[in-house]
Amino acid sequence: MPRLSAFRGRIPAALLVAAAFTGLAALSFTAPASAQDPAATVMSACSKCHNTQRICANLGVKDKTAWNTTVTRMMGKGAQVSEADKPAVVEWLAAQQAGAKPVCQ
Ligand code: HEC
Repeated sequence: MPRLSAFRGRIPAALLVAAAFTGLAALSFTAPASAQDPAATVMSACSKCHNTQRICANLGVKDKTAWNTTVTRMMGKGAQVSEADKPAVVEWLAAQQAGAKPVCQ
């Protein structure tokens, strides 16, 4: 029966395509485009020249605008923060309460 075998042949192909799309969707969810955790960025990039006590002293003091100025200045000195990660870093710093961990140990 040629028709039946042709039908049978199509099912695995369709399943394969569906599986491939499912795989792609899963990948795009687990790997967002720009993906550095701002806390991790601050703890690594901002502790190269001074310890994080300097940052701790300003948590709850500087607002978003002030942190943007500071981070821009630190990047000018050589802080390894990408332009893509910068807004999230500024946002994160501005949202931290005075004395918050991990910046303040
Ligand atoms: C290349 C070295 C270097 C790196 C990396 C660095 N800093 Fe600094 N930072 C300095 C120096 C030098 C000073 C003291 C002189 C000054 O304030 O300009 C300072 C001072 C500061 C101060 C106190 C002065 C102020 O403006 O409030 C804060 C807060 C600060 N840094 C935050 C950060 C943050 C946040 C990062 C990460 C984005 C960072 N630093 C990374 C060199 C660095």
